[in-house]
Amino acid sequence: MLKLVSGDPGKFKCSAWVIPVCENAALNEDKFITDLVDQAKKLADFKGKPEEQVLLYGMPGVVARQVIFAGLGKKEEIQAESLRKAAGRAIKTCLKNEVSEALMMVPNSKNLAMEPEKILKALLEGACLANQVFDAYKGEKKQKPLKEIGFFTDAETAEKNRALLKRVEDISHGTFLARQWVTMPSNDKKPALLAAMMKKEAEKEKLKVTVLDEKQLKQQKFGAMLAVAQGSANAPGLVIMEYRVPKAKKTIALVGKGVTFDSGGINIKPSAGMEEMKTDMAGAAAVAGALIAIARIKPKVNVVGVMPLVENMPSGSATRPGDVIRSYSGKTVEIGNTDAEGRLILIDALAYTLKKYKPHTIIDMATLTGACVVALGDKIAGVFSPDQTLAKAIVDSGTETWERCWQLPMPEDYKELLKSDIADIHNMSSSRYGGAITAALFLADFVGDARWAHIDIAGPSYSKKPDAYCSTAGTGFGVRLLCDLLEKL
Ligand code: BES
Ligand code: ZN
Ligand code: ZN
Repeated sequence: MLKLVSGDPGKFKCSAWVIPVCENAALNEDKFITDLVDQAKKLADFKGKPEEQVLLYGMPGVVARQVIFAGLGKKEEIQAESLRKAAGRAIKTCLKNEVSEALMMVPNSKNLAMEPEKILKALLEGACLANQVFDAYKGEKKQKPLKEIGFFTDAETAEKNRALLKRVEDISHGTFLARQWVTMPSNDKKPALLAAMMKKEAEKEKLKVTVLDEKQLKQQKFGAMLAVAQGSANAPGLVIMEYRVPKAKKTIALVGKGVTFDSGGINIKPSAGMEEMKTDMAGAAAVAGALIAIARIKPKVNVVGVMPLVENMPSGSATRPGDVIRSYSGKTVEIGNTDAEGRLILIDALAYTLKKYKPHTIIDMATLTGACVVALGDKIAGVFSPDQTLAKAIVDSGTETWERCWQLPMPEDYKELLKSDIADIHNMSSSRYGGAITAALFLADFVGDARWAHIDIAGPSYSKKPDAYCSTAGTGFGVRLLCDLLEKL
């Protein structure tokens, strides 16, 4: 789908050219392209500002029918994300205009303070990630993804970066799956159905997949997970994906919260916005998407992905506020609030993964708290870890991929807030404040001294507005972050 093109751009058959344009500098050495940009700036009152785009038809000497000029802003301010966004917006214009092949002109690195590989990678990512259409539930299919997107660059850059193309495609594939699963309505992704969809996709990549069903979860005493699931007519499942490489020196474990619908349970949520709780399995979707991408990009570490899938519903068989349950770890938990269910399924999945796989590092990803969205807004994830090096690596990968993360503290004295009179711990803090932190401290109680981090993605996993290279609903947040991170651990 992505292709590198050098030599004569006219030889690449397509109906649209995309030319990234800078406000205050020329980005191409090629005089023909620079002239086109000058014409666009003269004709169309177009300056090349960020988010600005202009489309011209029938430009002289251009084989493609349309040329999309995509604004990047001022030279000094252009970053990788400016390139991703401009490329993404241009591809969205192509989708609207039923373009099936497009050619993007890669800026020359001499004119931007960025390495050629970084420029190319950002454009590839923005373009590839934007090229997705979610119309499974529509009768009329209005748009079709582009069949081919070419990137015109010099022969040397093209030659050096063939592998990059595949990497971007592979990671985008994982992101697409995660987005699709998050966007899908809960009636079509009940735990057993979601487990089957994940298994099917993972097996295509030759990953080893195991699914523990309700009976096995009972036998193995996943008490916290079963307490959440028991109010629902739809049985829970635990999906395990394993990626192995010969001679790997370590195993990294990823755990993702998979609540296929979070009604809140007996502590039922207010009705406004409840429908968004179909996205409460975004952590599991990101981990599954990452494992599927990993199977393709083949890093030199073993990776195991563990996804506890449940539905949190109120009913006559649901857990009551005040109930005490025994978790997989053996510790008892007083369930003060049935809406704090994510931490319950995670403690069982974390304890199980640590016992079974003894990983070098374990990372969980979860739409865990509204409090995290209050703290960081809906574009930035919260990171918690007792291990500073690990937290920093996550934040750095966040900057690199623009799946942004910000570290929040885990103060020892806040643990007080989780004391229970009758059980080992309480799932609900006694304070209204600092909810993202107390949730992380709750998880910390079940990981012992393992090298662990928790990423709260309640904000960025879902978007109500379409973005430059993502449409409405599931964003697939976390897949690119985890793929980048693996190589730094
Ligand atoms: N799934 C929610 C968290 C959430 C909120 C995700 C907004 C996405 C957007 C979670 O299970 C929840 O309900 N958390 C409660 C915890 C509270 C009861 C301690 C919350 O954040 O209010
Ligand atoms: Zn909840
Ligand atoms: Zn939840």
